[in-house]
Amino acid sequence: MREQGQQEAQRQLMIIEQCKERIAALTREAGRPLTYHISTFGCQMNFKDSEKLAGILEQLGYVETDTEEADFVLLNTCTVRENANQKVYGHLGILKSYKKKNPHMMIALCGCMMQEELVVAKLRESYRFVDIIFGTHNIYKLAELIQTRLESKGMVIDLWQDAKEIVEDLPSVRKYSFKAGVNIMFGCNNFCSYCIVPYVRGRERSREPEDIIHEIEEMVSQGVVEVMLLGQNVNSYGKTLEHPISFAELLQRVEQIEGLKRIRFMTSHPKDLSDDLIEVMKNSEKICRHMHLPVQSGSSRLLEKMNRRYTKEHYLELVHKLRTAIPDISLTTDIIVGFPGETEEDFEETIDVVRKAEYDSAYTFIYSKRTGTPAATMENQVSEDVVKERFQRLLDVVAECSAKRTGRLEGETVEVLVEGISEQDASMVTGRLSNNLLVHFKGDESLIGSLCMVHLDQAKGFYYIGTKAD
Ligand code: 5AD
Ligand code: SF4
Repeated sequence: MREQGQQEAQRQLMIIEQCKERIAALTREAGRPLTYHISTFGCQMNFKDSEKLAGILEQLGYVETDTEEADFVLLNTCTVRENANQKVYGHLGILKSYKKKNPHMMIALCGCMMQEELVVAKLRESYRFVDIIFGTHNIYKLAELIQTRLESKGMVIDLWQDAKEIVEDLPSVRKYSFKAGVNIMFGCNNFCSYCIVPYVRGRERSREPEDIIHEIEEMVSQGVVEVMLLGQNVNSYGKTLEHPISFAELLQRVEQIEGLKRIRFMTSHPKDLSDDLIEVMKNSEKICRHMHLPVQSGSSRLLEKMNRRYTKEHYLELVHKLRTAIPDISLTTDIIVGFPGETEEDFEETIDVVRKAEYDSAYTFIYSKRTGTPAATMENQVSEDVVKERFQRLLDVVAECSAKRTGRLEGETVEVLVEGISEQDASMVTGRLSNNLLVHFKGDESLIGSLCMVHLDQAKGFYYIGTKAD
C-alpha cells in the first residue's frame, strides 16, 4: 500500500512537470501570469486539502489572487448540512458570469458534495460550464485532471467511491508559516445516523506514525511551532495499522519533536476517549489545554438513535475525569437541535449537559436532513418553528456559560501564540491561548508567529483584551 502511494506520488510529480509547460505556454499567450483562487467550505480537513491543492496549482505556475474572477477557480465543497450545498450553487451562478468575460477560465469543483451522485447528475445537466469535477479521494491528481481538460473539450469527471492509497509528499502551501494542520487519518467508520461524512469521506484509514512524525519534523524545520493533528475521530487513530498504535502513544511521540511548542488535535469522539489519553494530556508540556468533544445531544434516548454509542451519564463522567485531571482545560462541543423525534424533555437534557459541562463554547447546528443517512427517513421530524425556538434558547445558555468561563482567567498572565494583526484594530495583534481563546493586545507585525506572555485585562464574552507582559 505504502509503496503504491509513493509510486503514485512520483507519477504525479512527472505529470506536474509536463503540465507546467502547457501552463507556461498559456501564460505567454495571455501575456500575464495566470491566476487561481480556491474557495473552501466546511471543516479543517477541507482547509488542509485546499493547501495541498494550492501547492499543486502554484507548482504549475498559477499565482494566487483573492477574488473568484481568476483563470482557475476551485470550489472545495462541504455537504454536512444542506445550506452548505446551497452556497455552492450560489457561487456557481456568479462564476458563470465571470466565465463569459474570460472564456479561458477553468472552473473546478471538489470535496464532499461531489461524492454525492445526485449532485453530480445535477451539475452535468444544468452546469455545463464546469470544467473539472473530482472528489475527496483523489485530490492529489489535480495536475492530471487539468492536463486531461486541456487535451479534451468536455467536462472532466473523476470520482472514486473509496480511497486506494494514501499519497503523500506532493507540494503544499501553508496559510500560516508558524502553525499547520497535519492529517493523521482520513474517513470515518462511525455512521452516526444523521451524518453523511462516512459516505463521502470513506472508511477510516490511519497514516503511519513515522510519516506523520517526519512531516511534522519538516514543518518545524521550516518554522512551525504549533501543529493541529486532524482526523474525523482521532481517538481511534492507529487501530487498523499493521502495527497498531494508540492516539495517546502517537501524541507522546509527537511531543518529543524538538522545536515544536504546541500540539492540538481534533475531533475527539467521546466513545473512544481513553484514560491513557487524559493521562498523556495531563503530563504533557506541549498539548494545549483544549478538548473539542462533540456531545450532539444530552438525551441518552436520542444519542442511541443517533448511534453515538455513549449515554449522557457516560459523557458527563468523561467531562468530570478531564476536569479533575486537567483543571484548566477548556471544553468545546458540537450540538444538534431538532434531530428527528426530539421532544421538549430531550432538549432539556441537552441544556442540562451544557450547564453541567460548562463549555467554553459550542458549535450549535439545526438538524439538516441528509439523503441516504438513516435519520433522513426517521419519523417525527421536528417542525421548523419548534426547532428555531429551541435553537435560540440553546444559544442563550451557551453564551451565558461561555461568559462565565472566560471571566475566570481575567487578571491572569498567560502564554499566547500571536497569529496576526487584529481584524478590528490595526494597532493590535491577535494571539491564541493554549485553551484556544483569543486575546487582542497592542503590538505589531514583528510579533506574528512568536509566543509571548500577555496579561488578560478584560474578558469580553469569548475573547479578551490584554497587554503584553514581557
Ligand atoms: N445536521 C446538522 N448538523 C450535523 N452535523 C453533522 N451532520 C449534521 C446534520 N445532518 C454536525 C455535527 C458534527 C458537526 C461537524 O456537524 O454536530 O459534529
Ligand atoms: Fe459524522 Fe459521527 Fe463520523 Fe463525526 S463521528 S464524522 S458526526 S459519522
